[in-house]
Amino acid sequence: MREPILLSDIRSQLLGLEEKAPLLDGSRRQYVNFDNGASTPTFKPVHDQVTRFLRWYANVHRGTGFKSQLASHIFEEARKITARFIKIDLENNTVLFTKNTTESINKLAHHFRFCTDEVVLTSMMEHHSNELPWRNCCCIEHIDVRGDGSIDMNDYKEKVEKYRGRLRLVAVTGASNVTGFVNPIHEMASLAHDVGAKILVDAAQLAPHRPIDVKPDNDPGHLDFVAFAAHKMYAPYGIGVLTGNKKFFLETDPDLVGGGTVDLVTLEQTYWTDLPDREEAGTPNIVGVVALGAVISMLERIGWDEVVAHEKRLTRYALEKFQKMPEVKVYGSADPNILDDRLGVISFNVKGLHHALVSAILNYEGGIGVRNGCFCAHPYLIRLLDVSDTEAAKVQGEILNRDRSHVPGAIRITFGIYNNEEEIDSLVEMLEKIIRNEYKGNYTLNPDSGAYSPEGFQVNFGDYWSF
Ligand SMILES: Cc1ncc(COP(=O)(O)O)c(C=O)c1O
Repeated sequence: MREPILLSDIRSQLLGLEEKAPLLDGSRRQYVNFDNGASTPTFKPVHDQVTRFLRWYANVHRGTGFKSQLASHIFEEARKITARFIKIDLENNTVLFTKNTTESINKLAHHFRFCTDEVVLTSMMEHHSNELPWRNCCCIEHIDVRGDGSIDMNDYKEKVEKYRGRLRLVAVTGASNVTGFVNPIHEMASLAHDVGAKILVDAAQLAPHRPIDVKPDNDPGHLDFVAFAAHKMYAPYGIGVLTGNKKFFLETDPDLVGGGTVDLVTLEQTYWTDLPDREEAGTPNIVGVVALGAVISMLERIGWDEVVAHEKRLTRYALEKFQKMPEVKVYGSADPNILDDRLGVISFNVKGLHHALVSAILNYEGGIGVRNGCFCAHPYLIRLLDVSDTEAAKVQGEILNRDRSHVPGAIRITFGIYNNEEEIDSLVEMLEKIIRNEYKGNYTLNPDSGAYSPEGFQVNFGDYWSF
């Protein structure tokens, strides 16, 4: 057993936390990153392992030299570690490496050869990556959400019954990237299985924050397919994961074809090879896979209890602060005491101020990185923000005319394992200044991008990076 890693020491384990961002007043301030839901910084030990691996780098599979053999061994070890991470049995299931969650879900959609009336049940709270791949290849139906944005399980049960016999797949997010709500995926799996359907869990947000247990294949709560990516879990080297039952993937031809996917090719015939190789065409992202293996073993050394407790502490702290700010409207659950079924993902608005303006001020005057807009979940945001059909149609027309001035949206903060209370304090302090109208810049909106920038601010990116 390797030594545990203490959360109290975690900030020293991440690359780049000390970097400073340029501010409007000409000074620089240590950057605060509250955009972990998009991508996280890198764990230093992951980076160290990648650097160490690069000395041994060679292409995997079929190389006869030692470096290729070693690289292949490490690559396959990382696959086993990934299986262990979500408790998957490799006897019946496969772990496929992709480039991100989006590619994993598209790959899966390719393998479902739907008949015309077959249904995929997704939800109103999905990221576009778990919505668009299903469009045009099946009948897509949506599980409704309740007023606060959490999944409506009554609606789910009704729809599962309604589409009994036609329902092939439930494709649902493990946790929302907007409100942080965690879905009851095993209960949903069990209901889907009752009517002969399968379930995909988009675990892009869930995987870095909560332990996942796919459960044995014969368990009613088994998760048939799981997709996630390492760039949201402190290993941003371009690797994604898709897991699922081997038999399922063997029923169809691979989505990408070429080197590595075959046993034999004649001018007339192609004989696909076994899994996982037949689903990983071409040279894979070997470095990314090493990083994934490294980060999983790091997370194991930190321990889920610590990760979850830390995130709950930060979420409670931020929500308690927001509770005292009547100008701040939180979407989803704003209750600092209800933390079990949510992640440290908080979307909010400051009353009377455009989300893009607030985000810009946080950046240019506070050095605080957040995200604003609709977070690739347009239908969900429209619902949460209670945008009327007329308003939505008007904005749609404007967007199509390249005017993003009135795009509805929110500001989102997402916590990582290394964020702390002081960083939340600096956010709150900036928000209070904004509310008191004490920000300094004179901001103008670029209608084309929908972003605000302050007059007179100039930054030379060449001072930060050159090739
Ligand atoms: C819930 C959810 N699903 C899917 C994605 C897409 O992930 P990726 O960037 O790995 O393709 C994201 C990204 O933010 C997400 O939050």
